[in-house]
Amino acid sequence: MKVLLINGSPRKASNTGLALEEMAKVFREQAIDAEIAQVGALAARGCMGCGACGTLGKCVIDDVVNELAEKLRGADGLVLGSPVYYAGPNSTLTAICDRLFYSSSFDKTMKAGAAVVCARRGGTTAAFDRLNKYFTISGMPVVSGYYWNNVHGRLPGEAERDGEGMWNVRCLARNMAFLMKSIALGREKYGLPEREPEVRTNFIG
Ligand SMILES: Cc1cc2nc3c(=O)[nH]c(=O)nc-3n(C[C@H](O)[C@H](O)[C@H](O)COP(=O)(O)O)c2cc1C
Repeated sequence: MKVLLINGSPRKASNTGLALEEMAKVFREQAIDAEIAQVGALAARGCMGCGACGTLGKCVIDDVVNELAEKLRGADGLVLGSPVYYAGPNSTLTAICDRLFYSSSFDKTMKAGAAVVCARRGGTTAAFDRLNKYFTISGMPVVSGYYWNNVHGRLPGEAERDGEGMWNVRCLARNMAFLMKSIALGREKYGLPEREPEVRTNFIG
């Protein structure tokens, strides 16, 4: 069992990273493999809308996105972590996620998803909602904690002192571990839900 955690922060000593490390510790305690990929300092461009992925099954820009796609293919869960920038997630992360989710052709149904954001003060729930959008268009159950998963801090290391934030992400990781294990059992017993052939109407009948 494996979880991929993607950190959108460009900072080496990242507060978001502290929250993700806290979660990774919980996953490892539960014998779940946890890999953290930090992408925020990469020069990754956004989606060009070229549609080449429709035939390639992967992004035409062969960079970290295709590497992450392979990791996500083999993962049971995905955590998206981001610093809050102007009340949204970091734009490098969303550039990567737009391409990752749009271009990867494998089924993500029942891979568990969780979003975690880090801010000095405000904009957390808007950033959190934005990240959850990737899961909720992909058949991925969203895992909850006991708050809208955020940690607070500005200077490197400050998030460690956010006791409630860190408590919540540990709880979130435990809930996620339970859900992933339950889904694995359910998949064995019942199989994945049947999926009808896609209907796309672009609002035009
Ligand atoms: C460009 C930029 C925009 C930011 N916007 C916000 C914001 O909207 N709200 C906020 O509370 N903090 C904001 N911050 C502060 C960061 O969210 C905060 O420093 C956080 O700890 C960064 O996480 P990291 O260490 O994982 O990079 C901003 C920081 C930067 C560099």
